[in-house]
Amino acid sequence: MKKVGIIGCGNMGMVLVDAICGLVGNDNVYCYDIEKKKLNIVKEKYKVNISNSNKDVVSTSEVILVAVKPQQIAEVLKEIKDYLKNHLLISIAAGVKISTIEKIVKKEIAIVRVMPNLPLRVSCGVSAICKNKFCSMEDYNFAKEIFRKKGVVLEVKEKFMDLITAISGSGPAYIFYISEIIQNIAKKLKLPNKIIEELVNYTVLGAAKMLTEEKISASELKNKVASKGGTTERALEVFYSYKLEKIFYKAIHNAYKRAKELSDLVDKVGV
Ligand SMILES: NC(=O)c1ccc[n+]([C@@H]2O[C@H](COP(=O)([O-])OP(=O)(O)OC[C@H]3O[C@@H](n4cnc5c(N)ncnc54)[C@H](OP(=O)(O)O)[C@@H]3O)[C@@H](O)[C@H]2O)c1
Repeated sequence: MKKVGIIGCGNMGMVLVDAICGLVGNDNVYCYDIEKKKLNIVKEKYKVNISNSNKDVVSTSEVILVAVKPQQIAEVLKEIKDYLKNHLLISIAAGVKISTIEKIVKKEIAIVRVMPNLPLRVSCGVSAICKNKFCSMEDYNFAKEIFRKKGVVLEVKEKFMDLITAISGSGPAYIFYISEIIQNIAKKLKLPNKIIEELVNYTVLGAAKMLTEEKISASELKNKVASKGGTTERALEVFYSYKLEKIFYKAIHNAYKRAKELSDLVDKVGV
């Protein structure tokens, strides 16, 4: 079994520790985080090995998953670069290009870049993945297996990563916001408080299940609910007349622009 090290055990790192334990067994997992509290949690919950430093993680592992914030990754890479040999390095840092990582580590090692999203926490995530030229198919498949434990994996060209960040990385927040809006309206219109959350949450879950399980497009499904002269049609007419799609376009385009800005910033700061 491969030995896998995880640097950074926050929101994402913790979920991925679970996935990696499922793949290689907890005995083969080594974790480090600057926050001792998080290391204690991960040790207690998953019975993994706790390392004394990032360098120790690298020395004991063949695969390194870096799950720190984008603004923290340059520092981590500088700290570990002299210890990297034939490792596979996996980064999930939003906006951090493979070329930026290569410039920092200055070594011909296998690198996989992934853009996951938060629903990995409930094994319903979607992760976009790409690799550099030094990454073998065996290493690439291993990286894909980690993320497949927590949802769907899609291979993409790296040039799409910033846009994917704005679509599926930030996407859950858009859906949470729509749920929040519907719940607030249900409150305003005096639906009993105790049923609102479940009513709305299961509406979102049911709609998402239909979208993923039935081979019917979103547009067709929408039309199935909106019968002629009915209630849904009235609501949709308002969305169309206020040009909701235009608002979404502006919002997602702004997120995309920000992802590109951050990517350029990390590239400058990182080297
Ligand atoms: N959350 C998401 O929905 C999401 C989605 C897609 C991609 N990502 C990517 O996933 C990465 C992690 O995000 P997250 O939300 O999990 O962040 P997070 O909760 O802040 O986790 C990062 C952890 O790494 C620790 N850390 C910082 N510097 C370190 C160092 N030098 N050595 C070891 N550990 C260090 C942090 O400690 P401190 O808290 O003390 O700094 C923190 O515990 C990010 O790069 C992000 O872009 C996140």
